[in-house]
Amino acid sequence: MSNIKSVRAREILASGGEPSVEVEVVLESGAVGTASVSYGVSAGSKEAFVLLDGDARRYHGHGMLKAVDNVNTKIAPLVAGKEAAGQREIDALMITADGTENKSNFGANAILGVSMAVARAAAAQQHLELFQYLRQAYQINLPNWNLPKPVAVFIEGGRHADKSTDLQEYALAAQKDQTAAESVRMMEEIYRSLKTILKEKNFSTNVGNEGAFAPEGIQSNQLPLELITGAITTAGYQPKTDAGIYIDAAASEFYQDGKYNLASESRVLTTEEIIQMYLDWQKNYPIVLWEDLLSEFDWEHWPVLMAQSPIPLVADDLTVTNVKLWQKAIDLKAANAILIKLNQAGTVTETVDCCLLANRHNYITIPSHRGGGETNDTFLVDLAVAVGSQYIKVGPTRGERVCKYNRLMLIEELLNG
Ligand code: PGA
Ligand code: ZN
Repeated sequence: MSNIKSVRAREILASGGEPSVEVEVVLESGAVGTASVSYGVSAGSKEAFVLLDGDARRYHGHGMLKAVDNVNTKIAPLVAGKEAAGQREIDALMITADGTENKSNFGANAILGVSMAVARAAAAQQHLELFQYLRQAYQINLPNWNLPKPVAVFIEGGRHADKSTDLQEYALAAQKDQTAAESVRMMEEIYRSLKTILKEKNFSTNVGNEGAFAPEGIQSNQLPLELITGAITTAGYQPKTDAGIYIDAAASEFYQDGKYNLASESRVLTTEEIIQMYLDWQKNYPIVLWEDLLSEFDWEHWPVLMAQSPIPLVADDLTVTNVKLWQKAIDLKAANAILIKLNQAGTVTETVDCCLLANRHNYITIPSHRGGGETNDTFLVDLAVAVGSQYIKVGPTRGERVCKYNRLMLIEELLNG
């Protein structure tokens, strides 16, 4: 056990070339924990608050010096001298001192950076890997270490790419019962096959925010399903049983005046019509999970969709890793799986609590990277392993994405001794 000696934040760059926050926590014993915070580009409206400087002369207003300063001058004195292994207490202390519902006072980017770095320092202090430490610190009772399967975004559109599909993400979800390393290999082989198929069809193979292909002028929200199914087969795998398709529509982004505007196809659909479109797709393609098919402002229809969905329905913008919203979704039978993003919640404890709530209902948790503002931090992988998540959602390429797979494969090696 050891108390926190110092906390220091700095501005760093995230994957999109805009600033984020990195925090370093040092304990009296000398143990050190460092963490960096990611953020999204198609964020849900109720996510914890990302505090930006708003000074147009620096980074077009996206500087994070205010959040850095809040860590160094407000949060550091608050947590100094506290026992680092008391993660729940430290997170609660920061939440109370911030005093707002959405962490808009200190900024969730400030609070989360400290929360994650404290966990890392405490793990180092106890000579534990982060995933082992988190399982112990939150007294998570699971019989084994099941590793999450990759959900890898293969084709991206929406807010993540120009001139591509209206739906945001068409991903591959590994299904086969095999090692994490084999799942990663399978995923990358299918991704390569998809590249060949796109080239043959004269689509560009440029990649978007998450390292997924963002073919220009695709003009059909259904075509990616065809292309990815083809890629699974071409790579020598069985659609659905080895690998299936995962859709994240991010539908809040194209929900206008109570309807769904598929601009690339010049079609505007009612909720009933778009639900029918999804169900037809699911009959014809190997879709195994889907996320945010409806808008976060269309709560009433989520239970309608859920009642008809033959596969798990994942909530992201709807629930924003918020225990209250997730409980509401469970009560209303609006979703039975949840995307988990540390920065939507703003502390490690609240994030873990969302996962544990899912576990109590036997619902699926999917810790996820963020679109434009990802960092090289791999905390989400350890989190997924600690809480026993079924999947993690990451991109297939780019350093800030593949480092997550590398961490997962390392954890597998560590567990196998
Ligand atoms: P975001 O998108 O991180 O850009 O918000 C990812 C997602 O919606 O899952
Ligand atoms: Zn999403």
